[in-house]
Amino acid sequence: MSHFQRRNGQLHIDNVALADLAAEHGTPAYIYSKAAISEQFLAYQQAMGEQSHLICYAVKANCSLAILNLLAKLGAGFDIVSGGELERVLAAGGLPQNIVFSGVGKSHEEITLALRTGIHCFNVESTAELERIQHIAQGLDIVAPISIRVNPDVDAGTHPYISTGLKENKFGIEIDAVVEVYQRAASLSHLSIKGVDCHIGSQLTEIAPFIDAMDRVLLLIDRLSEVGIAIEHLDLGGGLGVRYQDEHPPAIGDYIQAIRQRLGARNLRLILEPGRSIVANAGVLLTKVEYLKAAGDKNFAIVDAAMNDMLRPALYEAWLDIETVSDNKQAKAVVYDIVGPVCETGDFLGKQRSLAIAEGDLLCIHSCGAYGMSMSSNYNSRPRAVEIMVDDCDSHVIKTRESRADLMRGESLLPDNH
Ligand code: LLP
Repeated sequence: MSHFQRRNGQLHIDNVALADLAAEHGTPAYIYSKAAISEQFLAYQQAMGEQSHLICYAVKANCSLAILNLLAKLGAGFDIVSGGELERVLAAGGLPQNIVFSGVGKSHEEITLALRTGIHCFNVESTAELERIQHIAQGLDIVAPISIRVNPDVDAGTHPYISTGLKENKFGIEIDAVVEVYQRAASLSHLSIKGVDCHIGSQLTEIAPFIDAMDRVLLLIDRLSEVGIAIEHLDLGGGLGVRYQDEHPPAIGDYIQAIRQRLGARNLRLILEPGRSIVANAGVLLTKVEYLKAAGDKNFAIVDAAMNDMLRPALYEAWLDIETVSDNKQAKAVVYDIVGPVCETGDFLGKQRSLAIAEGDLLCIHSCGAYGMSMSSNYNSRPRAVEIMVDDCDSHVIKTRESRADLMRGESLLPDNH
């Protein structure tokens, strides 16, 4: 169900007019639909049915405490990639035993924190990391639950920057070499083998690469069992795509059904780490048109949001749908590049969009709930946007807009004699 509807020329998110939110809280602003996030998460839960599972929301997609808290209350686990994300999950009420820790560069301090917290599992990405976890766990006299992230060498068919399952990527351990690594893990005193993990990429719009990867992992699990290593869970990572423009990604239910079919009667717990598919289409970025400008044969709409607020178009040439918040009957449709105030030619949010707009009008940039706020920065000393969660006809500020003083927090001048 769409959570965005135009009524009497006014775009609404659930039962709140976006123009009202902009009037009250200013722009740029990230706005999320609580119902949309819940629906997506519950689609995963429901499709799992009787299958033993844990849906670990990938915190990197959007790490807002309010979103983490909402998901924790719905029964989510969490996939984290840093000590910072771990602290956030705990602050939001996530349970330690439902946390998996991914990432290629876990520091000594982060491993220690995760061991003391008692997380469900480390997704180990290299033999060096395996040895480091053993060393730290031994020192603390805690047994570390681990799974090894294997690189199944499948082509996810997605953008090269977000494809992770090919041999040449930095992620995971080559699947053909991993039995030995498991044997090494089994021989270490303070490691307990829980599962096998893989994540082949993000924004996948086909089921086939997931199933290819899964088949390879299942073969591996059989080989491990032959050498006496029992596996409790299979973590297939995240990566299910969403519709930004005209993509047709599989529905969550169909994707889960395909995985469950492949799993058959095997006694394995399924772990997934979805990020984008839970939050992307539940969030928008609201922005105001500052200026309209013609240059050569181009027209620019210069808006108050920029690449520091939403980096995906600049970084991946990502396409995001952009529409007006309120109909402007006076304006004529013109084809614009929608650009921000940041001093970079790459600072655009959309190109070649036909819009009937005037200075001061509001634009809604869709599908910004994932990798929007979480990838934002203060580039050009721009305070980060306010974040608002809409709950039917109510709205709640879940993060206040940064102030200019916030931008300078922790900084100091050199002493006078330097
Ligand atoms: N698990 C692991 C180990 C991951 O590396 C990722 C994403 C996920 C789960 C979640 O994947 P998702 O379900 O969200 O596709 N910034 C890029 C996306 C980078 C994804 C990185 N890893 C973008 O804006 O498209």
